[in-house]
Amino acid sequence: MGTRLRMLISAVIVASWVLSASGAHYHTHRHYRLEDVALTEEIDVRAQRNKRATEDINALLPADTPDDSTPLPPGGDPSDLPTCLLCVCLTGSVYCEEVDPDMTSVPALPKETNYLYARYNKIKKITAKDFGDIVTLKRIDFTGNIISEIEDGAFAKLTMLEELSLAENLLVKLPMLPAKLVSFNANHNKLRTKGIKSNAFKKLSKLTHLYLAHNELEAVPLIPETVRTLHLQNNNISSVTVDTFCKSNNTYYIRHNMNEIRMDGNPVILGQYPNSFICLQSLPIGRYQ
Ligand SMILES: *[C@@H]1O[C@H](CO)[C@@H](O)[C@H](O)[C@H]1NC(C)=O
Ligand SMILES: *[C@@H]1O[C@H](CO)[C@@H](O)[C@H](O)[C@H]1NC(C)=O
Repeated sequence: MGTRLRMLISAVIVASWVLSASGAHYHTHRHYRLEDVALTEEIDVRAQRNKRATEDINALLPADTPDDSTPLPPGGDPSDLPTCLLCVCLTGSVYCEEVDPDMTSVPALPKETNYLYARYNKIKKITAKDFGDIVTLKRIDFTGNIISEIEDGAFAKLTMLEELSLAENLLVKLPMLPAKLVSFNANHNKLRTKGIKSNAFKKLSKLTHLYLAHNELEAVPLIPETVRTLHLQNNNISSVTVDTFCKSNNTYYIRHNMNEIRMDGNPVILGQYPNSFICLQSLPIGRYQ
């Protein structure tokens, strides 16, 4: 009898905590950055209060059986907080932008996440375990972190991934990319030609946008036929060949999809390679001499 009453009271406390916590969380959707810390403290205080209330009730009631059925709400160390308290989770999307305290690794994601925005944090490394079984991901944005290392299998299993941004990081090489990628952005890194496998993009049969500007590339990688927009400006590319964009053994070949190539800010003098661009419908932007 005592146990049942105690369970009922515990249930009421937990239910009211969940309701008020979700109200507070809803509130943070509008002001989440400033209020993350306040929310953390608020939940911490509430957890303490509820813990005290539960202890008081336990003291009043006869201790007929040990009661371990009271789940205590989360609180304490902010690093233990679930992703959706540090970040904002809205149906299928997780927004972790400029998270405070610093986010240095990929957060654990709720199952069925489609979109992850983790821009402007301090993430250093992406491991093969980070996305584990979150194969539902369609878009990932890591712009503006300090990523210098990505384990080769990290993205390989994400068969639904269409957009990936690794812009403004510290990468010198690229991992294996998933086959359905439509847009890939690695602008503003430290990519070297030897850090990009020769078939890195070749097998991406849906790729239309490829951004590799502001890196240290010395050559143009193999570009799939599907690509429409290619940004290679501000690299260290000093030459191109007939086979870079066109086909040396087929003078009738036209690269129909390509409509924007940027190669300005490279040492290459495009005017020296007139035969390298005859298959294109518009010339690259760059210096002609
Ligand atoms: C650019 O490439 C040349 C060789 O073609 C090399 O000597 C130079 O150090 C490179 N510059 C940068 C910034 O990597
Ligand atoms: C050009 O060479 C490639 C292999 O390098 C070959 O697959 C293709 O059939 C050749 N095209 C012509 C028109 O000879």
